[in-house]
Amino acid sequence: MTVPRTERATGETGTGPRPRRLTGGDVGIPPRHLDFRLPQEMVRWAYADNATATLFLAMLSAIFPPGEDFFVRSVIHFRDRVTDPELRARVAGFTAQEVIHSREHDRLNEAFRSRGFPVHIPESAVALALKVLDRTSPRQQLACTALMEHFTAVMAEDILGSDEFAGRVHADIRELWHWHALEELEHKSVTWDVYELIGTDGPERGRAAPLVVATVLPAVVFGWAYLLVQQGVWRRPRDLREGYRLLFGRGQFLRRVLGRMPVFGHPRFHPDRHDTRALEQRWRDTLFGDDGALAEQLRRPVREA
Ligand SMILES: [Fe+2]
Ligand SMILES: [Fe+2]
Repeated sequence: MTVPRTERATGETGTGPRPRRLTGGDVGIPPRHLDFRLPQEMVRWAYADNATATLFLAMLSAIFPPGEDFFVRSVIHFRDRVTDPELRARVAGFTAQEVIHSREHDRLNEAFRSRGFPVHIPESAVALALKVLDRTSPRQQLACTALMEHFTAVMAEDILGSDEFAGRVHADIRELWHWHALEELEHKSVTWDVYELIGTDGPERGRAAPLVVATVLPAVVFGWAYLLVQQGVWRRPRDLREGYRLLFGRGQFLRRVLGRMPVFGHPRFHPDRHDTRALEQRWRDTLFGDDGALAEQLRRPVREA
């Protein structure tokens, strides 16, 4: 099921009007060339002043570059099968958004490293895990990507949908996460629609969750644990307890997100069945409207991307 988000763009030529090639911006997935300015002296414990939860956030940032590279490769593999102009444009928008996310997270990761967090360890661990997934079939890789994109979309909706994240994460890095979350929602159904195009009824769909749990999850846990040990947080039980409560406690962030993962296995699953367009529009206005928090950070107008 593809939910059209925009009308087909047209352009004038010398021989009369004819459709012009759609871009990501035409179909609601504009690449925004942001250039985040991180402060020289970034606050150390940026998530609720808690080391355990902050290092989880640092680990998450660290794994985006290899993860998003995997996502893009798994979709690009089937690009030639995509003949519908709108879906082609959505794939282009998705790819460009993910590439920019990785670039900006690389910069945030560099800032974490300069503050002594060895975030290259979780990054390498997840890159290694994804190398294992690289050995599976392209169809399997795309199924795994669709699952992980569902995870990022659910996480993004949670981040944008309540004041909790904004209240806990320091202003130094908050808008970077809000921008990334918005774009995860804007392109949330692209990988699924490419997957539907090649057929979602194979065994790959059922294997996606076990494969991701067997490869990426251990790398994530190892990477987070490494940061906790290296930073000496493992000797601070009160911080560990509070960090665990903030992330996994009853009604808390990751408990809510993980609770919404099983819907991926539903026979009629489609990311757009859960409508987030009003939330996306609210955050587009908040971040990129006339007085938007990030409007000035755009290097060039969205339509030129
Ligand atoms: Fe992303
Ligand atoms: Fe994504």
